[in-house]
Amino acid sequence: MSSIPRDQWYVAAYGREIGQELFSRTVCGESILFWRTRAGTVTAMSDRCVHRRFPLSETPSRLVDDQVVCGYHGFTYAADGGCVAVPGQTRVPRTARLKSYPVVEQDSFVWVWIGDPAKADATRIPRAPWLVSPDYTTVSGMEPLKARFGLLVDNLLDLSHETYLHGGYIGTPEVAATPITTEVDEEAGIVYVSRHMDDAECPPFYAKSTGLTGRIMRWQDIEYTPPCLYKLHSRIAPLGVLPDADGSDPDAFHVEVVYAITPETEHTTHDFWAVARDFALDDQGVSDFLAENNRTVVLQDVAALDVLEQVIATEPDGYQELSINIDTGGLAARRMLARLAGQSAGSRV
Ligand code: FES
Ligand SMILES: [Fe+2]
Repeated sequence: MSSIPRDQWYVAAYGREIGQELFSRTVCGESILFWRTRAGTVTAMSDRCVHRRFPLSETPSRLVDDQVVCGYHGFTYAADGGCVAVPGQTRVPRTARLKSYPVVEQDSFVWVWIGDPAKADATRIPRAPWLVSPDYTTVSGMEPLKARFGLLVDNLLDLSHETYLHGGYIGTPEVAATPITTEVDEEAGIVYVSRHMDDAECPPFYAKSTGLTGRIMRWQDIEYTPPCLYKLHSRIAPLGVLPDADGSDPDAFHVEVVYAITPETEHTTHDFWAVARDFALDDQGVSDFLAENNRTVVLQDVAALDVLEQVIATEPDGYQELSINIDTGGLAARRMLARLAGQSAGSRV
């Protein structure tokens, strides 16, 4: 059985990636064609022509006035996936229709629904409002991962690895040394993991971006909504500076680190990352630094997880992992993912 939950929303792309041209991305093993209509709406449909399966994103297929013309024999499709013309006859077969996907553009992301379209409910898409808020400045990217998405979930739910894998960037000794608290909201389907470091070294990632040096308060509050959206609310403040009683927090720096974890196939993943900050909003130097630095950090994870995938794929089943306190968030996430994958396959859990 697949470990990928279906009947779920997944991030397929950033909105900026999709224009008035044909764009293809594989999500959960399904090859999907995207384009933006002249009215500005993103469409999503199968990237396989119903005639002989030629990919509609492949040249010489082309987009003409909001219609896709297959580059092999010319089957032509409208924005809803319906076939409007075939060569050599005027009658278009009634079944000539591309599978179309519910799609929503929100918080800079293009979300697609993988599964039964009748179950798609756009109000259930988790939010990341900072990514489009004028009160934040965001840098973002996407790195391809040659590893199953569960490995990235494990990685992001346990940030103790920052100390080792990301030393000199975002890791300091306190991350691994400070215990976490884990909470699971089963009803909302969210895993929370918190690590509050009240007296920690300031890593270069935050020293160079905030200007703070020496010892700091560094709080990491993770909120993971399986399967796709992961948010790390990061708070950086001078030692001893707490939020005000009313919840405002004017003397701290806030960084919202957002990941969208989208399976491409069973064994590969789209690793979307975004870093939104509420300080130095117009400072291009800070934006460039954070973009470059975070990409480096993501690539450190990618390198490690690509190795892990190889190890897992080539060794026999039955290896017994050993888990400790740092893994409680990851284990909770795994349980939730297994349940989602089981439910959508119709089996009991
Ligand atoms: S494969 Fe597309 S028209 Fe034949
Ligand atoms: Fe990492």
